Amino acid sequence: MDKFIIQGGARLAGEVVVSGAKNAALALMPATLLAAGNYKLSNVPRLRDIQTMTTLLRSIGVEITRANGVLTINSFGVSKHEAPYAHVKKMRASIYVLGPLVARYGRAKVSLPGGCAWGPRPVDLHIESLRKLGASIELKRGYILAEADRLKGARIRFEVSSVGATGNALMAAVLAKGTTVIENAAVEPEITALALFLESMGARIGGTGTNRLEIEGVDELSAADAAMIPDRIEAGTFLTAAAVTGGNLTLRNTIPGHLAAVTDKLREAGCVVRTENDCITLSAPETLQPVDVTTAIYPGFPTDMQAQWIALMLNAKGSSVVTDAIYLDRFKHVPELARLGADIRIRNNTALVRGGKPLTGTTVMSTDLRASASLIIAGLIAEGTTEVLRVYHIDRGYEAIETKLAALGAHIERTRSDEF
Ligand code: UD1
Repeated sequence: MDKFIIQGGARLAGEVVVSGAKNAALALMPATLLAAGNYKLSNVPRLRDIQTMTTLLRSIGVEITRANGVLTINSFGVSKHEAPYAHVKKMRASIYVLGPLVARYGRAKVSLPGGCAWGPRPVDLHIESLRKLGASIELKRGYILAEADRLKGARIRFEVSSVGATGNALMAAVLAKGTTVIENAAVEPEITALALFLESMGARIGGTGTNRLEIEGVDELSAADAAMIPDRIEAGTFLTAAAVTGGNLTLRNTIPGHLAAVTDKLREAGCVVRTENDCITLSAPETLQPVDVTTAIYPGFPTDMQAQWIALMLNAKGSSVVTDAIYLDRFKHVPELARLGADIRIRNNTALVRGGKPLTGTTVMSTDLRASASLIIAGLIAEGTTEVLRVYHIDRGYEAIETKLAALGAHIERTRSDEF
C-alpha cells in the first residue's frame, strides 16, 4: 500500500490542468452497452474507479483499450449480463450497468452494493424506477435479478434527487417502448453529460439539464464518441488546497459555472476568484474568514466538497458550521483531522469547526475518497510531517494528485507503506 508524506508550510502557486470528470466517465462507459458498436471516450482520467469499471465491462464482454486518455470501446461482444459482488463492493457506481443491461439485453444480475464508508446508501430508487419501466425484479442472495421483454415508458417521480438512479432510469428509458417522464431528476452536470451522450447515440430526450426529463423511447441506438467534461470536484479540491495555504492558483480546463457554489463560498472566505472561459484563478488572502456551508443537490454546494471545506475552515479566523444535508454520516475525516489537532465537534449532520488552531503533523488514515483529500489539505498547513496512509482511496478519484500538488510547490511524496 502507498502513503503520502507531506511537509506542511509551503504556499501553493502555479497552474493545474483539471482532468476529465470521473463521475461523467463512470456514467458514459456503461452507456456503451446500449448499442453494439465502436466508441471513443476522450479526456478520461486515469483512476482506480475507471479501472474498476473497465474490468467490470470487460467481464461482460466489452473490449476496452486506453491510449492518451482515450478509451476505445467495442461493445459488439457482450455475452454476460452480470455485475458480480467483487466489482460492486469496490465501487458502487458499478450499479450503472443495471439499466443498460435490462434495456438492451432483457436481463441483468447486479450485486447489491451493501454499506459504504459513510453510512447507508440505499439503491431502492434504482430498483423502483426499473420496476416502473416494467422490469420484474427479485432480490436474491445479495443480488438484484432483473428481467424484461421490452421496457415500457412510465412516469417516474423520485422522492429524493439521486444522481445514480436518474442515470440508471435514463439509460433504461431510452430503449423503452413509449414515453417516460422522470420528475425530480438529478441535474448534476455529469447526468447532463450522460443525456447529451445518449442523444448523440440517437436517444430522444427532452428537458436535458432540467429536473424533468421526457424520453421518447427508440428501437435502436448507435455508437457515438464523447469527450468527458472537466472534473468539478478535482477543480474544487485544488482551489481549497491553494486557498488553505494562502496561495495563488490558475486552473485550466474547467467549466467555471459548474463550480459556482464553491467559488462563491471561496469569495466569502476572502479569496479573489476570477473566471474567464475555461479558466479559474484564485488568490487567497492572508487570513481566511470563516464561512458556513450546507451541502445540497446541484447547483448547491456539493457533498463531495464537504470534507475539503472543513479542512479549509481549519485555517479560518473563527468558527464555521458545515452541514451535510445529502449524506448525514459523512464525517469519517473528522476524527483523523482531530489527530492533527483540529477542533471540530459533530452534532448530527453538522460539524462545528473552530478554525485558527495550529495543526501538527502526524500519521492519519484515509477512509474514503474525499476524506483523504481533506487530510492532504490539512497536511499542507500542519507543522512538520503528515503521513497519509491508504492513499488507494485517493487514487480512486484524483489523477496524479501528488504530481499536480508538487508542481504547485507542495512538499508531498508517495512512498510504499509497511502497513497491511
Ligand atoms: C453520486 C456521486 C457521488 C456523490 C453523490 C451525491 C457518482 C458515481 N457518484 O453518487 O460522488 O457524492 O452522487 O452528489 O456519480 N438515495 C436513496 N436511494 C437510492 C439512491 C440514493 O435514498 O436508491 C439517496 C442517497 O442515500 C443520498 C441521496 O439519495 O442521500 C443522493 O445520492 P445519489 O445522488 O444517488 O448518489 P450516488 O449517485 O450514489
